[in-house]
Amino acid sequence: MLKNNSFWDFYWETRLQPMENLGKRAAILSASRLIRSLSEQKPHPLRLLELGCGEGQVIGTLLDAHSQVCSIRESVGVDYNPVSITNCRRDFPGMTCVQGDFTKAELLNSLGKFDLVILVNALHEVFSDSFSPELGEVDVPVAKQNVETAFARAVNCISPGGWVVLFDGLEPSGDPNRNVSVRFYDERGFLNFNSFVQQYHPFKITYGKTSDPFVVTLSQRDFTRYITKSIFLGKQLWKTEQLESYQYFTEEEFDKLFSLQELKIKEFRKLTMNEGKWHDVVEILTPEYTFPDEHILILAQK
Ligand SMILES: C[S@@+](CC[C@H](N)C(=O)[O-])C[C@H]1O[C@@H](n2cnc3c(N)ncnc32)[C@H](O)[C@@H]1O
Repeated sequence: MLKNNSFWDFYWETRLQPMENLGKRAAILSASRLIRSLSEQKPHPLRLLELGCGEGQVIGTLLDAHSQVCSIRESVGVDYNPVSITNCRRDFPGMTCVQGDFTKAELLNSLGKFDLVILVNALHEVFSDSFSPELGEVDVPVAKQNVETAFARAVNCISPGGWVVLFDGLEPSGDPNRNVSVRFYDERGFLNFNSFVQQYHPFKITYGKTSDPFVVTLSQRDFTRYITKSIFLGKQLWKTEQLESYQYFTEEEFDKLFSLQELKIKEFRKLTMNEGKWHDVVEILTPEYTFPDEHILILAQK
């Protein structure tokens, strides 16, 4: 049976409802549209590869939906976390789940070529892994180089004419040191911000106090880091979230990353994922400054 767009709109609306992470939902919807269009142009079954697949929520959900046009067994999820890979195998039996480091060329070379390579919230972890104890921060030049190398290796897994879907954090363009003034609505918001300043591991965060205890000034760069982590403060996930910087490349740097690999960008969307929740916690006082676009979704063809 040929399924039309209204079928898929309904399918994804019901299927993605319980998925809290809005970015993941956006990536799945775009990848699903791409798979549908590819299946009309290419002989199937299609092979999918997700690097940093975690428990398989992205690739597994896509394979469930598109099992008629994708090869489940020939599609692969890679993650170095043994618990995630075990859960991925349990939740999506049939799919090939590989425990290993996707930055390693030997591992990727052993997997063959794929029609679609998926990187959802994975490269920021490669960036964050380059934390330098001597600097007390991520070693940015080394970290950026590691991201570029990992991306080049991922692109090498794409068959000619195949695609990559990348969803991840975004460093806002413009002066990172631009000063932003914000007010927390209550003491809880301010105390959470203070915990963020003290516990965020990838970079040192600084801020200026004012005569109003709930008003602070900080750089645009640090504000973006705070705001994108604010939903995890005080929750179980903060333990891992405090170790990772979502932001690593600006829009211009992503553009360069893709053109270096001679990829043709077909979709480039900047997203603000949780603005509704931020408005409940903090108010921006700086005129003409708004909550930043802090995520990116890119679809590109080799
Ligand atoms: C934020 S999770 C996202 C998981 C999945 N993409 C999703 O959206 O549901 C990032 C995953 O990447 C994995 N990861 C990070 N760096 C990795 C590497 N170098 N090799 C393999 N897995 C890696 C982590 O273990 C984690 O499961």
